[in-house]
Amino acid sequence: MREWYSPHNRSDANDNRPPMPRPRVRATRHAPAMKVLFATPEARPLVKTGGLADVSAALPAALCAIGLDCRLLLPGYSAVLAGALDLQERAWLYDLPGFGAVRLLQGRMPDSGVPLYVIDYPYHYQREGGPYQDAHGRDYPDNAWRFALLSRIAALLSSPASPLDWRPDLLHCNDWQTGLAPAYLHFAGRPVPALMTVHNLAYQGIFPPDLVTALGLPAESFSIDGVEYYGNFSFLKAGLYYADWISTVSPSYAEEIQRAPLGMGLEGLLAGRRERLTGILNGIDTADWNPSSDLHLPCSYSARALTGKRRCKLALQQDLNLDPLPQAPLAGVISRLTYQKGIDWILAVADRWVAAGGQLVILGKGEAHLEADCQAVAARHPGRIAAIVGYDEGLSHRVEAGADLFLMPSRFEPCGLNQMYSQRYGTVPVVHAVGGLKDTVEDGVTGFVFLEPSAEGLWQAMERALALWGDPDSWRRMMLAGMHKDFSWEASAQRYAWLYRMLVLTSGR
Ligand code: ADP
Ligand code: GLC
Repeated sequence: MREWYSPHNRSDANDNRPPMPRPRVRATRHAPAMKVLFATPEARPLVKTGGLADVSAALPAALCAIGLDCRLLLPGYSAVLAGALDLQERAWLYDLPGFGAVRLLQGRMPDSGVPLYVIDYPYHYQREGGPYQDAHGRDYPDNAWRFALLSRIAALLSSPASPLDWRPDLLHCNDWQTGLAPAYLHFAGRPVPALMTVHNLAYQGIFPPDLVTALGLPAESFSIDGVEYYGNFSFLKAGLYYADWISTVSPSYAEEIQRAPLGMGLEGLLAGRRERLTGILNGIDTADWNPSSDLHLPCSYSARALTGKRRCKLALQQDLNLDPLPQAPLAGVISRLTYQKGIDWILAVADRWVAAGGQLVILGKGEAHLEADCQAVAARHPGRIAAIVGYDEGLSHRVEAGADLFLMPSRFEPCGLNQMYSQRYGTVPVVHAVGGLKDTVEDGVTGFVFLEPSAEGLWQAMERALALWGDPDSWRRMMLAGMHKDFSWEASAQRYAWLYRMLVLTSGR
């Protein structure tokens, strides 16, 4: 289970800027706008453990910008109640078996102004720790109940029993925490179609079988043709099985998960539903991630005026006590520190990288042994390697800007965002040829892509990068090729809108 990165723990003063709502909901004059309820367990800047939060903020805003009426549904964690704009009571929900009276609030997202429903149920959501784990990194024992409630309310708001006068045409669910919603909708007669998006199949929401009926699903749903997963109850499998359509966050990952090992035990189901499985590449928030206007940076730069990038590098070296060497290739890493991300491969080649004249910055948080290993390698190479254990959004921007190359050797990567941020910042990515990494980095053109899943594979790509570094004109050409790529959400939002329309038209409801 993931670490929680509290938005209130960031060190950069810029993060305290007052929210600037920019409502992007556009009224269409002719047809009524398609209504979509986007159910998610996290959305930045309110609550974030990883890329799902970035996507949950940016995609609904992009959908509103192209004329859809997309609204978010989030659990009422303390940070959500504190950070959402204009929260007001909308309804009380009394008929949810197993739960007391639940209050539903309505407000808007900071930054985008996208409408937001919040489940105000302090008993489940207002806790000291993160969204999934306590302050000591242990999963909350009642996570099944907490996210069954999110799923329940997502389904309820999508059905005729909803207390709201706004009802969606389609329910868009994200990851295991919302996986029961398509099952609840199925057993309520499928009033609207449900799309289930998989951001990471490694997190499945597995719980004991006796919870199936306790959480309001019929006993017969506990079967291979239902929510059963190797003798247990899987929230994600429920979503994948009962949803009208499945999407994931890159075309390559959509292929990879139909086979072992990346199908993680669900490859049979996914291959069986392949006609209803689509990969739509994530975009990035190009306003937040723009080197020419990024307030986190000591100075701005662009493809036309690159000098500022050299100054960002020097400032980063000085801040992190690295030797201020302009000619040393500085590699950056910003990551959850987990097995998925191939951090151990980076650590295995770190000595060689330093011996070849390179520098390395690792910003990450996660598994304790990886945090300790990162700190140990930095201690061995003072002035050459810096390891910052923690979550720091401002620093993540400064690493993207100050580094020359970015290492992302993930064992698997559904999409990945940092390799796209890197290209936009003229920071050449070195990535493993999997999932979204493969789909967004062009080998030899905008970065280096390696095939062999090992530290050796990574090292060979880093050697290729070193060779190019020795030829400044070619290096600059690669930087500019990345900086000119379009990673904005617009095209992907259009693909989701098309998929929604197709599902609503073919659902016959
Ligand atoms: P994942 O969701 O698997 O963690 P992504 O690449 O999709 O991977 O998204 C990770 C997001 O979290 C990016 O926005 C990245 O910049 C951010 N991030 C990860 N670790 C840190 C950290 N230690 N400090 C700041 N930002 C981080
Ligand atoms: C997941 C994946 C990551 C993806 C993100 C947003 O956390 O690990 O690859 O970019 O979700 O979809």
